[in-house]
Amino acid sequence: MARAVISGSGIEIPANRVTNEMLSRIMDTSDEWIRERSGVQARHFVEPGVGSTDLAVPASQRALESAGLTPQDVDLVIFATMTPDHYFPGNGGLLQARLGMPPVPCFDIRQQCTGFVYGMQLADAQIRAGNAKTVLLVGAEVHSGFMPWTEAQFDYVYGRSETPPTAEERAWNNRFRHLTVLFGDAGAAVVVRASDDGDRGVLGSIVRSDGAEYDKLYVPGTGFKRRPYTSVEQIAAGDHIPAMDGRQVFRMATTRMTEVAGELLARHGVTPQDLSLVLMHQANQRISEYVQKALGLRDDQVCHNIQKYGNTTAATIPLLWDECARAGRIEKGRYVLLVAFGAGMSWGAVLLRA
Ligand code: ACO
Repeated sequence: MARAVISGSGIEIPANRVTNEMLSRIMDTSDEWIRERSGVQARHFVEPGVGSTDLAVPASQRALESAGLTPQDVDLVIFATMTPDHYFPGNGGLLQARLGMPPVPCFDIRQQCTGFVYGMQLADAQIRAGNAKTVLLVGAEVHSGFMPWTEAQFDYVYGRSETPPTAEERAWNNRFRHLTVLFGDAGAAVVVRASDDGDRGVLGSIVRSDGAEYDKLYVPGTGFKRRPYTSVEQIAAGDHIPAMDGRQVFRMATTRMTEVAGELLARHGVTPQDLSLVLMHQANQRISEYVQKALGLRDDQVCHNIQKYGNTTAATIPLLWDECARAGRIEKGRYVLLVAFGAGMSWGAVLLRA
């Protein structure tokens, strides 16, 4: 039976690099606080009007190029994002059209920070079922649309304006500071291909969801429980901005990621020491360090890039994959583990031979 092999990757990072110090221009925060609590040193933001599909297009083109393929070779698109261009339709078809692909099936999935892991399982299942041979799997996010700042404040952050926020605006920004400092925008894509090379490909995966504690990380407003589903009142209340209980998310992420990684490795008779690389969702450096320690992984088995990009939700793992591939850290045939946890709550892991 054919196995799913990641045969190319590409990324797109927006030009506006924002350091922690730059954020402290519009809210009460500091480089020290953000770095110590999360590991984030900088993040990138798009210009207004740029959506997650716009990031996905160049990332996908680079991924296809690195796989030696063209858009015409793709027979399935999976687009993981929680920040699509429109409420509907999803980004998958928009990407398909922008890349000039034939009318192939396009899935839009929204498992937030676990989106890429869910997408890998879906790609693998479609390949094993014989439904697809070449899958374009994308994780792309534009979180800057969640930021509670006006365009004038973005300009002040970038140093393009001399006008600081008012005391009232600063107080409003402070209300969300535990959340806003963590996230950034990015797009990343991989090409997953059917291969008969028995030494490579996805060996197995586990994905899980439990909605019991969904309200520890969710968007309270802009949903169809409200009529109309979005309104000036909801925006004035800040209900379009995610609400997060950081401590609970931290607790659940460390527990679930450790658990699911251990279960998947045991299922395949692979020990943590056998792994050449572990790519964890980049939510918080401290979460990754906790999981690394709990699994007994050496530093050289783990790769982080949260310091450069912040949390880019569905894009973090393919972003890491691409950076590791370009640095020569993905060795053909060796074990790689992908692990993630995200809103939902959802979590999962994929074990593969690169
Ligand atoms: N700058 C300065 N001070 C801040 C900031 C900030 N940006 N944000 C909050 N504070 C203050 C708080 O007001 C509080 O002050 P007080 O003690 O005077 O009340 C103090 O810092 C401590 O706040 P906590 O929220 O308790 O800080 P904590 O140590 O829990 O760290 C954090 C917060 C970084 C959010 C942490 O809980 C975390 O990372 N949790 C995981 C959340 C996560 O990863 N979310 C990503 C999305 S989900 C996913 O991807 C898996």
